[in-house]
Amino acid sequence: MAALAACTPENAVPSPVAANAASGAASASETPPAAASGTPTTATAAVEPDAVTPSPSTAPSSTAPSSAVAPQHSLTDPTSPWVIVNKHRPLNPQDFVPTDLVQPNVRLAVSGEAALLNSTTAAAAEKLFAAAAAGGVIMTLASGYRSYSTQVATYGGYVASTGQAAADRASARPGHSEHQTGWSFDIGDGGGACSFQPCFADQPAAVWAKANAHKFGFVVRYPWMFHDTTGYFYESWHLRYIGVEAATDMSARGIATLEEYFGLEAAPDYL
Ligand code: DAL
Ligand code: ZN
Repeated sequence: MAALAACTPENAVPSPVAANAASGAASASETPPAAASGTPTTATAAVEPDAVTPSPSTAPSSTAPSSAVAPQHSLTDPTSPWVIVNKHRPLNPQDFVPTDLVQPNVRLAVSGEAALLNSTTAAAAEKLFAAAAAGGVIMTLASGYRSYSTQVATYGGYVASTGQAAADRASARPGHSEHQTGWSFDIGDGGGACSFQPCFADQPAAVWAKANAHKFGFVVRYPWMFHDTTGYFYESWHLRYIGVEAATDMSARGIATLEEYFGLEAAPDYL
């Protein structure tokens, strides 16, 4: 049960409309913020994202974001920290399973599969959680890896609870979830009242993550008011690892989405 919490209706029926309406009716262009960030025991990841410089000299100015950075890592290989998974870009292979899943040494709100991350993300998550704790912020790992079959159940639960249109704004269809890559996880704060809810954005864990996650290589993947780009309403709890340099670059340049950063088309809906 807890392992399915992240996007499971019985735990937290999402309020996607409220999630965005609650913060005002601004357009995406006036919007906000952007990116904000174990003890692995198994194989290392295929890449070392932090060792790579995303060539800021070749990056566009903020007036020409579409050309984005020159890819230093694959945008399609699910073992790449820069893989882009969205409604236009399913995982390939569809049933991908990371080979280096490990359980990070962080405060867990889940067990089993959902407590796993790929080894690179797990190591970065340990640093993130430790820094948050040092700052007096309680942060929990609320949902990490999700297999294809788990996503079948998760998405199916949403559809059954909210209908397909609403489900598609909150939960990825099987084979389209970042959680299946091992590069993403959802955070909680140990409280639960606002877990996976719009009000989580105002909780210390989310506020801290939004301001600091980039220092550890993470971005808030589905920012407020960018659903027309990402396909999903604001998820203040969903962090995605892309490496410290890239996440810091995104933050410094005020780029909110990976689609924009990498010059990819918006993916509001499935093709
Ligand atoms: N909630 C995100 C979009 C997922 O299902 O992967
Ligand atoms: Zn998530």
